[in-house]
Amino acid sequence: TNRTFTMIKPDAVADGFSGPIIQQIEAAGFKIIAIKKVHLSKEEAGKFYAIHAERPFYQSLCDYMSSGAIIPMVLEKDNAVEDFRKLIGSTNPEQAAEGTIRKQFARSLESNAIHGSDSDENAAIEAAFFFSEKELA
Ligand code: GTP
Ligand code: MG
Repeated sequence: TNRTFTMIKPDAVADGFSGPIIQQIEAAGFKIIAIKKVHLSKEEAGKFYAIHAERPFYQSLCDYMSSGAIIPMVLEKDNAVEDFRKLIGSTNPEQAAEGTIRKQFARSLESNAIHGSDSDENAAIEAAFFFSEKELA
């Protein structure tokens, strides 16, 4: 068994989709290890997405991710990282498969409802950004 990190993003929290999204995550076999609700500053969003600092959409992404509350979570399941990215679907919801979380709940390429870590290493780094060692035990 292993872990991934996710955040329900500001569009989906504001649209009232947190409940149905969490329901689908649990129905897919993921166990919630840690969960909270936070509103990032633009500076904090910039730190989280520092890996994208050179991308043309970086400023817009940081504005969006600090525009409202988000719900970060750490999830546990066999093959967690890969299976979770399948569950959420393609970055662009217009290209996401039927039944995926982004297809159902995202507004746009940027406001795409949910994040999923892209590797075990990044999952651990991203979890530590939001949660203490004690919260992850
Ligand atoms: P995450 O799970 O959120 O990391 O998404 P991803 O791995 O599918 O995409 P990526 O890491 O490449 O991009 C991070 C986030 O930046 C995306 O989830 C979108 O919110 C946003 N994003 C990605 N590409 C674009 C783009 O071309 N334009 C804009 N405006 N936003 C983008
Ligand atoms: Mg990514």
